[in-house]
Amino acid sequence: MLDIGRLVRLVVILGLASTTYILYRAWETRRVRRTLVLQASCKDVAQYPHEDRLWGYDLMRQRQEAIKEGRLMPLYAKQFATYGKTWEENFMGTRLINTADKENIQHIATTPDHFGRNFSQRGRVGWPFTGRSVMSTDGAEWKHSRNLINPTFSRAEMSDIDGLGVYLDRLISLIPEDGQTFDIQPLFQKLFIDISTEFLFGKSMNSLLPDNPFDYEKFYAALERSLTGLMQRRQAGNMRSIRYAYDPEWKQAYTEVHAYIDERVAEALEKTSSSSPPTEAPEGKHRKYVLLQEMAKQIRDPIELRYQIIGVFLPARDTTSTLLSNALFNLARNPHIWDQLRQTALQLDPEKLTFESLKSLKDFRNVIFETLRLQGPSGRSQTAAKRDTVLPRGGGADGQSAILVKRGTHLSSNVWAMHHDPHLYPEPFVFKPERWAGKRQSWEFVPFLGGPRICPANQQVLTYATYTLVRLTREYAVIENRDPVLQYVELTKMTTRSRNGVKISLKR
Ligand code: HEM
Repeated sequence: MLDIGRLVRLVVILGLASTTYILYRAWETRRVRRTLVLQASCKDVAQYPHEDRLWGYDLMRQRQEAIKEGRLMPLYAKQFATYGKTWEENFMGTRLINTADKENIQHIATTPDHFGRNFSQRGRVGWPFTGRSVMSTDGAEWKHSRNLINPTFSRAEMSDIDGLGVYLDRLISLIPEDGQTFDIQPLFQKLFIDISTEFLFGKSMNSLLPDNPFDYEKFYAALERSLTGLMQRRQAGNMRSIRYAYDPEWKQAYTEVHAYIDERVAEALEKTSSSSPPTEAPEGKHRKYVLLQEMAKQIRDPIELRYQIIGVFLPARDTTSTLLSNALFNLARNPHIWDQLRQTALQLDPEKLTFESLKSLKDFRNVIFETLRLQGPSGRSQTAAKRDTVLPRGGGADGQSAILVKRGTHLSSNVWAMHHDPHLYPEPFVFKPERWAGKRQSWEFVPFLGGPRICPANQQVLTYATYTLVRLTREYAVIENRDPVLQYVELTKMTTRSRNGVKISLKR
């Protein structure tokens, strides 16, 4: 028989125990936070003056307007100039700290035990499309993915410049001969999708080939819709589940992208199955590291493999192409710098270009660095605090004191705003490659970020971008801007590129 008295006693004891536990946890949390504040002499961080203090919807609306008008990053620059280098906002009910302070950006990037991705709900919004991969995980899971990826970007792989030549020949064959106006941005997108699908999947998409049976335009449209959906969810914060509860178009778009990737995955699993003979390298050459095949040797689950490779395919497909498009955007508006690059390029033997020789071309490097500073495709890095911790700067009226960062707080390292800080870069909105002459690398310039999660492709990007610029400046004597809009209007997706494309003419 049920003893009511004993049951009531049990419920009371359990209630008391859980209340004691909750009170203890709250006391412990306060104690830890107070200790952190005292130890680091933390002060309060500046707060964004929200009209909507509950959800911060006013700021969200401002950002959506700015995205529509292609000026999101300049809006950030204005806000950092007004509220200081570090300030906190209410991001749809979540605390979010924005920082453009070098000390904080470095601290977040180099303290992975305190700041990470996996913890961030915001980072998970794209998971049906992007899944778990090097981009979205932390700790041992991230390390495993990163170890698989790193050899793709080894010196041996990047030294193989010969492979690029054929793609550049195809690109040049599509450039109008007679100085007609054309948009080079979509051509660069095709160039880098072809190059990256070769080294990632072992099979190029060959979108630059006119008689290619693969429907690149359809795939590209699906990819763009998938990325737009991803961005919309990130922007909607905690409202995303209500706002995008029913969105079959997004699902259809990323399913199309998955279908292409899944075919490559099936091929890689087949190639690396125990019954397939190992592939031999052509005589005198090293065997190329095809990332998907190397991954398939360790991961046999096709869904896991799909997401692992998407984590590299997405950043690969439009970043270098955006960098080069932006470089030509700037060069078309500064043709005298094109002339200088051409003088250097004409003295080179295109047959003898190597990783080292490309790296030593300082004037090309300066143009690439200045483009990355002015319009870097990856302007913000999002993380979340995995525990109660501190940031070295942002506290007090002068922003020079440390600040407390509570567990779960989201952080946005705004590298773009740091790269436009007039104290670090005089005339920050002017394209001036010469500012890089003699300048040493430091945390003031981190287009690829830094620390353990630094972009693994950073050296590859610089090599491929230099090679492409050398080939184009050798080939064409004159570049002209053909866009009546002179300023850069952003198109914000996963990365930021030029909304108006890059309309130019090139003459021999
Ligand atoms: C102009 C070109 C590029 C720029 C400016 C760039 C920039 C960046 C930045 C800033 C990060 C750190 C992101 C963060 O922590 O929030 C990153 C990470 C990453 N990038 Fe790039 N990237 C470029 C090209 C590429 C390419 C071509 C690939 C692949 C072939 C690539 C693969 C990756 C991967 C896999 C990560 C994640 C690394 C990790 O979390 O361990 N990136 N990139």
